Amino acid sequence: MNTKIARRDFIKSGVAAGISLSGTPAILQGKDDREIKLGFIGIGGRGTGMLKTTMRLPNVSVTAVCDTFPKNLRAAQALVEKTQGLKPESYGDHELSYLDLLERDDLDGIVICTPWELHLPMTIAAMKAGKYAATEVGPASSVNECRELINTYEETRVPCMLLENYCYFRYNMAVLKMVRQGLFGEIIHCTCGYGHDLRERIVLGKGTGPTSKGEGDYRSTHNEYRNGDLYPTHGFGPIAQCLNIQRGNRIQQLTSTASKSRGLRQWSKDNLKADHKRRNIRWNQGDVVTTTLKCFNGETVVLTFDTRLPRPMSFMYQVQGTHGIWMQDGDSSSRNKSVIYLDGKSPHHQWESFDSYQEKYEHPVWKSYLDEAEASGHGGTDFLEMREFVSCIRDKKTTPIDAYDAAAWMAIAPLSELSIATGSAPVAFPDFTNGAWMTNKPIFGLG
Ligand SMILES: NC(=O)c1ccc[n+]([C@@H]2O[C@H](COP(=O)([O-])OP(=O)(O)OC[C@H]3O[C@@H](n4cnc5c(N)ncnc54)[C@H](O)[C@@H]3O)[C@@H](O)[C@H]2O)c1
Repeated sequence: MNTKIARRDFIKSGVAAGISLSGTPAILQGKDDREIKLGFIGIGGRGTGMLKTTMRLPNVSVTAVCDTFPKNLRAAQALVEKTQGLKPESYGDHELSYLDLLERDDLDGIVICTPWELHLPMTIAAMKAGKYAATEVGPASSVNECRELINTYEETRVPCMLLENYCYFRYNMAVLKMVRQGLFGEIIHCTCGYGHDLRERIVLGKGTGPTSKGEGDYRSTHNEYRNGDLYPTHGFGPIAQCLNIQRGNRIQQLTSTASKSRGLRQWSKDNLKADHKRRNIRWNQGDVVTTTLKCFNGETVVLTFDTRLPRPMSFMYQVQGTHGIWMQDGDSSSRNKSVIYLDGKSPHHQWESFDSYQEKYEHPVWKSYLDEAEASGHGGTDFLEMREFVSCIRDKKTTPIDAYDAAAWMAIAPLSELSIATGSAPVAFPDFTNGAWMTNKPIFGLG
């Protein structure tokens, strides 16, 4: 039998048979009996972390790795060999070497941790090769590539997953549970964002990819040429789950406004020698981009992108409804602490700590995997998302953050650029589901 066809048929038949969206979520089923073989593309800073997390999962092996930077490729190969005892095959002679990896017969799934502009082209190629694809977060380059992602999914029915680990944050999953139980009443308004001082990282580069620190990297290039919300999904993903975006609701339009661009120039002036080659870059990206999204069901979302000024980290989450409000900032100084006010339950006009609510409304996923998750990156979220991706492959299910989510969340970037470039004009949001959002049911965090 041709194993390549057999594996592709295995994936396609299961998913197309419609065993996908119903029942207990894969992550809770604990069916860990069949070995799943994965390939990794892009093993720099993030890819290495995800590789380590993935290899902690039972019955998962990494049989192929691809990176165009020889140092990272060799390090990934050595890491896998040391952990698993078997050396994975390596790919990376040229920029399209990943296509050779995708030709392999033995791979069930692909994990993509490359620079932003490669996420969707690589995801699409993996799906066309019949392999489940998980891609790291970032902005889409254009709305067209988001449409291409959807077209590919609808033609192949091979699932992909956006690795939006922030949806798995413990507090976000508890809040989602509370939203679904109606504790906040009808949701009216939310805020979210990505507030992270990345000045040094953007100006100089991180140095974990092919360019050394001091030369810039892909994030520097995007900041130099683009001007929009370039990292929308960490903020918007968890809020989209609360608002049932694509599943009973959808984004109708957005407007975006960018502040002036000063943060990186000031940082460069304060920290780099006068003759440093990266001191006088003309950054196109505004320091703070504020996007307002209007949903079909009437909710508004304010999304902030703020990575170029001094500030402690925050994701600015707030969920507000007719019966109460949960907020990540306010009186609490840490991003892991939050406050809540529920009408008729909380002391009148006073914030309460979220801690006791966290315990009471702990999501079942967290109840099941607390110890394992907490030992992994980003507060356990990396473990939970990779575990779920692998479970979906094993159980032939569609993924809980699917092609439609990836397209809509990542498209915020190019659409915010369009709004900014046209004087903060309202931009109609494409319906990537072609009307199916009206009857689609939620698929994330069930249980
Ligand atoms: N979800 C999270 O919490 C989180 C955290 C950090 C980074 N990220 C995301 O992960 C991605 C990678 O970030 P990073 O910091 O690891 O970057 P990095 O520069 O350290 O690594 C990228 C790797 O991709 C490789 N690469 C580039 N072109 C390639 C090609 N054509 N084929 C194969 N490999 C190629 C590079 O050589 C490099 O090793 C980004 O999208 C970033 O936004 C997500």
